[in-house]
Formats: sequence, structure tokens, C-alpha cells
Amino acid sequence: MTLVDLGVPSLAPTRPAPASGPLIDTFGRVATDLRVSLTDRCNLRCTYCMPAEGLDWLADDALLRHDELIRLLRIAVTRLGITSVRFTGGEPLVSRRLEDVVAATAALRPRPEITLTTNGIGLAKRAQKLVRAGLDRINVSLDTLDAARFARITRRDRLPDVLAGLRAAKAAGLSPVKVNAVLDPVTGLDDAVALLRFCLEHGYQLRIIEQMPLDAGHEWERNRTISADEVLDTLRQHFELAPDTAPRGSAPAELWQVTDKSGVAGKVGVIASVSHAFCSACDRTRLTADGQVRNCLFAREETDLRRLIRSGADDDALEAAWRAAMWAKAAGHGINDPGFVQPDRPMSAIGG
Ligand code: 5AD
Ligand code: SF4
Repeated sequence: MTLVDLGVPSLAPTRPAPASGPLIDTFGRVATDLRVSLTDRCNLRCTYCMPAEGLDWLADDALLRHDELIRLLRIAVTRLGITSVRFTGGEPLVSRRLEDVVAATAALRPRPEITLTTNGIGLAKRAQKLVRAGLDRINVSLDTLDAARFARITRRDRLPDVLAGLRAAKAAGLSPVKVNAVLDPVTGLDDAVALLRFCLEHGYQLRIIEQMPLDAGHEWERNRTISADEVLDTLRQHFELAPDTAPRGSAPAELWQVTDKSGVAGKVGVIASVSHAFCSACDRTRLTADGQVRNCLFAREETDLRRLIRSGADDDALEAAWRAAMWAKAAGHGINDPGFVQPDRPMSAIGG
């Protein structure tokens, strides 16, 4: 039970953030997991994320330069207690410097765990290089195994590229290879069964994520999404599911041990971000491609570290700004509150 569960902030938000120690908020949550969006661009157009025509991409000079990004990563790891760094997008493989960023992150001490969330396009060619650079684990987004549905959901006919990317990730020794699925409101329950069968067969770990209101068109409607409970009910009709006994910690996925009818075993995660929010255990802080700290996916305010860097701020000032940003983190995303307002930026510009 945390203070968020109890609904009371322990530390008066009017007090300033602590100047050292863990990266803490007024509810006592400690952020150790940094999500870095490397670009807002993507080569897919998933309907729950981007409009068909794409978005107005960030201008090149708005993006953090390599040296600026690595400086912020160093501050995060050496001063703020960040122990794991996940690179996201948009699509992080669109960034040609990804291998260099991974290598520079792996050179930091204490070395953080380095992970990647990708749509898998182009991964076939780069998986091995990324592992050599220091990548530890990977999540590949895949919502269906049906080529026509894939093309409808992502508006691009690229299923074979994603499947090749998955194979390459496994061959490069990444383990576990996780598959992230956001289910289509119409075909999603069928897709979930097929995806779980496929993942068990290939040794990938499936994670099904409830669709969140982070689409560029602001068209999300709760009754057009599939809930975690519906997914579990459907999976139980086809597989044996037993709760995983490993401690969950701050991991958002509820993990299940799963066995199919022929006895093949594995694990499946279900991430109920909307129906059973896990905000009280959140350990994340986010950095966008244009150098803004976000204390939550759903934050309505950002802290501009790029402007600070470019105005000559020293490491102490950058550290203090990051701490102040996290100190102001709200108790939860508020999706289920009547007054909920979706953030201006879509998922592709925030980083998953
Ligand atoms: N709701 C839930 N997950 C989303 N993703 C993208 N948009 C949404 C959304 N609206 C997922 C992608 C990917 C990760 C970066 O976030 O499928 O797995
Ligand atoms: Fe691209 Fe990911 Fe958004 Fe799909 S969800 S359009 S793969 S950034």
C-alpha cells in the first residue's frame, strides 16, 4: 500500500524537491526507470497512435543532439539513481544513431539495463549490432498475425518485416523477446488467442496492453476498447492460466503462467493500464526527443531541459530541474475521472 493508494500526499507539495538522493515525488514514489523517445517519427501509422497522413514532425534543431542526450543520460544515471533506460519513439529504429546511443549508455557507470520498444521494422538487419552495442532486452509491437488486419491497423503492409525482426532478435540472443499487443476493438480477441499460440511456439513473451487515450485524433472511447478482464476470459477458453508467483514489484504487467492444450508452457502478461491503473507503483520518468521531461504519460506539463542546456545550464541546474519535474508528479493518470483531459501530445511524441 502506498500513499497514492491511501489518497494522501505525505510530503507537502509546497516544499521543494530534495536536492539529492533518489528521484522522488510527493507521494514517495521513486523513479528508477527512464523512457527516452529518440524520435517522434515512425514508418507505421497505427490507428490508435497516428493519423494516416502522419504528424508535423519535430524540426531537426528541436531534437536533442547526441552530446546533449548523452549528457542528460549521464545525469540521470550518476545523479538521479536511474537504473534502467528504455529507448522508444515514435519508432526508435528510424533513428540512425540508435546503436551509438545504446553504446554510450552502456558505457555509463553504474551501467543501467538497456531496453528497446520497437515496431520491429528494420530490426532484422540491426538486432545483432544493437546487442553488440549493449542492448539487453527488447519489446516488439505486434497486434495481429493476420497480414490484412496488420495492414488495416498499421496502414502499412509490413507484417513480414516485423516477423523477421522478431526472429533476428531471438537469434541475436535477446531474452526474453517480448511482444506488445494493443488489441483491435473488432478482431482483437481472436488476435490475442492466435498471438499467444504463436508466442508460446516461438518462445516469445506476449504482453497485451489495454488501449489508452493517447491517439493523435483524440477519438479513444472506453467502450470501443477491449479490457484486460475480457482478454483473460477469452484466453482461459483456450489455455490453462495460473497466476505467476514471481513478485510483481513495479512491473505493470500482471503475469500468468500459461499452458496450451498440447502442453507447451510460457508466460503471458496483461497490462490493465486503464481498468486497473498501476499509478501507485509507477517508477518511471520520461524524456522526449526534444528534451522535455514528462513525469507521466498523461502529464499536461513538461520541463524543458533542452532550453536549459542550450542556455548554458550546468549539471547541478539540470539535475535540479529534473527533480522538480518529478516532484510535481500527480497521483495518477485520471483516465477514469469525469474531468479527464487527454494530453496534447500523442503516444508517438511521448514515447511508450
Ligand atoms: N494505448 C496503448 N498502447 C499504445 N501504444 C501506442 N499507442 C498506444 C495506446 N494508445 C503502444 C504500442 C507500443 C508501445 C510503444 O505503446 O503498441 O507497443
Ligand atoms: Fe509507430 Fe508505434 Fe505509433 Fe504504431 S504505435 S504508429 S508503430 S509509434
